Amino acid sequence: MNIVVVGLQWGDEGKGKIIDFLSKSADCIVRFQGGNNAGHTVVVDGKEFIFHLIPSGILRGKICVIGNGVVVDPKVLIEEIESLRKRGIKVTPNNLKISLLAHVIFPYHRITDALREKIRKHKIGTTKKGIGPCMVDKVSRCGIRFCDLLDQQVFKEKLKDNLREKNLIFKEIFKEKGFSFKKIFDEYKDYVDYLKPFLCDTAEFLNRLIKERKKLLFEGAQGTFLDVDFGTYPYVTSSNSSIGGVTSGTGVSPIYIDKVIGVTKAYTTRVGEGPFPTELPARLSSFLREKGKEFGATTGRPRRCGWLDLVLLRRAVLLNGTNTLALTKLDVLKGLEKIKVCVAYKLKGKLFKIPPLDTHSWQKIKPVYKEMKGWDTEIKQKDFKKLPAPIKDYIKFIEDDLKVKIKYISFGSKREEIIVRR
Ligand code: GDP
Ligand code: IMO
Ligand code: MG
Repeated sequence: MNIVVVGLQWGDEGKGKIIDFLSKSADCIVRFQGGNNAGHTVVVDGKEFIFHLIPSGILRGKICVIGNGVVVDPKVLIEEIESLRKRGIKVTPNNLKISLLAHVIFPYHRITDALREKIRKHKIGTTKKGIGPCMVDKVSRCGIRFCDLLDQQVFKEKLKDNLREKNLIFKEIFKEKGFSFKKIFDEYKDYVDYLKPFLCDTAEFLNRLIKERKKLLFEGAQGTFLDVDFGTYPYVTSSNSSIGGVTSGTGVSPIYIDKVIGVTKAYTTRVGEGPFPTELPARLSSFLREKGKEFGATTGRPRRCGWLDLVLLRRAVLLNGTNTLALTKLDVLKGLEKIKVCVAYKLKGKLFKIPPLDTHSWQKIKPVYKEMKGWDTEIKQKDFKKLPAPIKDYIKFIEDDLKVKIKYISFGSKREEIIVRR
């Protein structure tokens, strides 16, 4: 059985925790898009791990793959490998495979990311990791991949060609000094020497595992509404963070995907700019932020918080073909007398059950809420039937609306704090 895990909101749904749980019964965990804009948290035996590029399954000693759809900052990747090794986690070319076709992030991508943000009137609030500019180069066919780095002559030519254009832009448009060819060339030569043993044809490798009937687990980064096609464009990331990214980002055909698990928080958060219909005013937002420790795992920025939005989730369930749900952070809602759930959007006096497509309309949405009874009980045991009635009502209400079963209920950051419904 091959499973895809995707975020159904604006990222940070708790995908890392769910992946860590599911990794127990998988053979290989695969990242297929995004880059180190992701921050996936796993808490095991009181120790917290935040993954930016390496799949969260590495903690269970499973084979991990960084597919061709991921843009890789080699400096960050090497630091991540080294930091895991220091913490006693085995990372070797046997359990970490990186695609030769993955595009590489260069210093000019990171700096362009920051400079473009600075001069933008409507800021996106990017993570400034260079993800967008690296994807731009990929699509405009001047990107540099790991396979190019392996051949010094090819790398030299491509880097020179790139710097000719980039340095012109940096000097003439941004009025910044350009980049030294030699500095980057030498730095990246060292990176590729280090990473060489991990590089391979991951598409071939994954398809071999499929033939051997091994179980693959695809780890989505970001979330459906950060998807460059289906998200709240332009306030999105630069990859397909919903299901579509899996096949183009790995070389695994959709015919091998058996199950799509969508992860949603029991409320909503968003980090960075862009529309957020159910965003709460400061006081309630900070209640959720403090209780849910809602600060970005990658940038440390406070996350914006709001009520659960079923209008968004209906669309996300549809787009991903989600056939199983994982609900996280249910514990955070404890202590609220009333909980609201958005069931429709009001726009120009009309009610909508699915979100609009144009960003312009998103800004004018008035959410329509159903108010539900809150609870003040701590979730301690794992028998769904024994949960207090308001919690069960909340879960059933979501399930009935989305017509998808919530199989996994996470009620704390620790590995064992999860209810699995059979
Ligand atoms: P991801 O990007 O989707 O993997 O999510 P992040 O790791 O960025 O953010 C989720 C945060 O919530 C992390 O700090 C997790 O440790 C934490 N977390 C995950 N599930 C739960 C839960 O059920 N309850 C609580 N309180 N925290 C959780
Ligand atoms: P995980 O995998 C939450 C957001 C940024 C910004 C927008 C574009 O941890 O869920 P980018 O740097 O990608 O060009 O930024 O996307 N963003 C995320 N928000 N979780 C993430 O990843 C994110 N990755 C990018 O905040 O609004
Ligand atoms: Mg995250």
